[in-house]
Order: sequence, then structure tokens, then C-alpha cells
Amino acid sequence: MRHLLSSGDLTRDEATLILDTAAELARVSDRSVKKLPTLRGRTVVNLFYEDSTRTRTSFELAAKRLSADVINFSAKGSSVSKGESLKDTALTLQAMGADGVVIRHSASGAPHRLSHWVDGSVLNAGDGTHEHPTQALLDAFTMRSRMGRLEGLRVAVVGDITHSRVARSNVLLLTTLGAHVTLVAPPTLLPVSVHTWPCEVSYHLDDVLPKSDVAMMLRVQNERMHESYFPSVREYSRNYGLDAERLACMPPDAVVMHPGPMVRGVEVSAEVADSPRCTVTEQVANGVSVRMAVLYLLLGGS
Ligand code: CP
Repeated sequence: MRHLLSSGDLTRDEATLILDTAAELARVSDRSVKKLPTLRGRTVVNLFYEDSTRTRTSFELAAKRLSADVINFSAKGSSVSKGESLKDTALTLQAMGADGVVIRHSASGAPHRLSHWVDGSVLNAGDGTHEHPTQALLDAFTMRSRMGRLEGLRVAVVGDITHSRVARSNVLLLTTLGAHVTLVAPPTLLPVSVHTWPCEVSYHLDDVLPKSDVAMMLRVQNERMHESYFPSVREYSRNYGLDAERLACMPPDAVVMHPGPMVRGVEVSAEVADSPRCTVTEQVANGVSVRMAVLYLLLGGS
């Protein structure tokens, strides 16, 4: 494996190797000196054309914990505003000796294009509405840690599926790892091609929750919407939001996940977000270990 562009590219063995490696590397985060010399002398470029809180900082921390040199590039404040293309930007950074390029871009397929232009490994940190493979890996890692297994796990992914790269990456990865995924959304927030995805689909959250071990709640991505997809936020929240009453209908050990950023009061109530059954901050912590594992395996650490 040279690049990580899509969850769908990972075999079960490759995905399991990443999760197992992340579990080993998680121990580094528990030490007082949280650093390994593994990627000393390697350079990782974080190339972010879209906003990010979790993914960018997590990749930066992961690379630094493995002793790589890190360059953080954000489109805002760069020569992109003067018209420089993705290709020329990438070639410029490559000329500085990048061994790995982590890219987030609003265009679906941008990491794939980039992989043809640079010599180093390309890691997709989210491309448009297409994929976010390291998010799916950290979600799978969190489920495996909390529930002890992925095989046979019943996962409901709820919300704006149409605009979600997290949903597609999770469906592909979780089914590869033996979990069963049900997408729950109003018809307007399901992509037209959803019948080709390896999962079930429902419009009724209250039917799905009692049969789910995990409820993965997704944000409504207003920034990608150019028309109205539902009558009102209040109605959306009433039908597809997770509050304490709905959480009580889930199995007692079921957990609530969210990739972030979370909008309290829309897809999750504040009470659910602050509940010990909500794994949001655990997902963020696991994201560092998972990204360390991916960097380690792709950049040839030893
Ligand atoms: N989950 C996620 O991708 O969050 P950021 O947009 O903050 O990176």
C-alpha cells in the first residue's frame, strides 16, 4: 500500500493491520515522553484546502510523535489566492522533499489526482463528498475498543448521507470488517446511488435504534447545500435527532458516535453529547493513534 485514498481500497487484513498497529502506538500517548524516532528525517506536508479542526491537528500531532518534520500548508494565506493550481502547489512542496502529503480538498477525487503528480505517499484527509478514510479507521478503532469486536456489530449512520464523506468511508470499511451498517435519513438526504452501497437504508430512526449497537450521528452540511432539503431544522431534529428519550430505546451498552464538528440541539441533544455513552472525545484521541499507524505503515517506518 503506497497511498490511502479510499476505505474501499483496504482489504480486511490491511485494515486490521492498521487498527492493530494503532493499538500498539496508542501506548506511546500514555508515556510521559510521547515520541518515537520512527520517522526521523521524513517530511510530512499537511495540505489543507478546506477548514479542519480535528483532522489537521491530529495528523500534525501524529507525524510529530513519530519524529517526522511537518509542514502545515493552508490554502488561505498561500499563493493559491494568486491563482496557483493544486498541481503546481504540490510540485512546489514535492521539490522541498515531501515524503508524505496529507490532503483535504473540496473537490472529490483531488487526492487521487495528486497521487499521479507526487512521488511520496498521498493520504486523503477528506475530499468533497467522497471519502474520509482515516475518519472511518478511527471510528472502527473506537468501536472495536468500546464493544470488543467489529464482526456482526450493528451500526446506524444517521443524518446527511448525501453530503457525507464520512458515511461512504464508514460503510466501505465497516462492511469489509464484518459489521452491518444501516443508513438512516430522509429521502432527500440519501444519494441517488445509495442502492449500490453495501448496506441497508431506512427513513425511520425509531425503527432502527433499538436494533443498533452504535448510532453514528452526522451533521447537516449546510455549507454544501444550495437548496432546501427539509422543511425546517426543528422538524429535522424531531425526526432524526438523538435525544435522551431515543437513546434509552437503544441496547444498554450501545454507544453514540459523532465525527465532529457536532451541532448540539440539531443531530444530538446536549444531554446525549455530554453522556458517558457518547464517544466523541475518545474518537479524537484515537484519531492520533490511527494516523500515527497510517503514517508509520505508509512512510516505511521501522
Ligand atoms: N471529523 C473531521 O473531519 O473534523 P474536522 O473537519 O475538524 O477535521
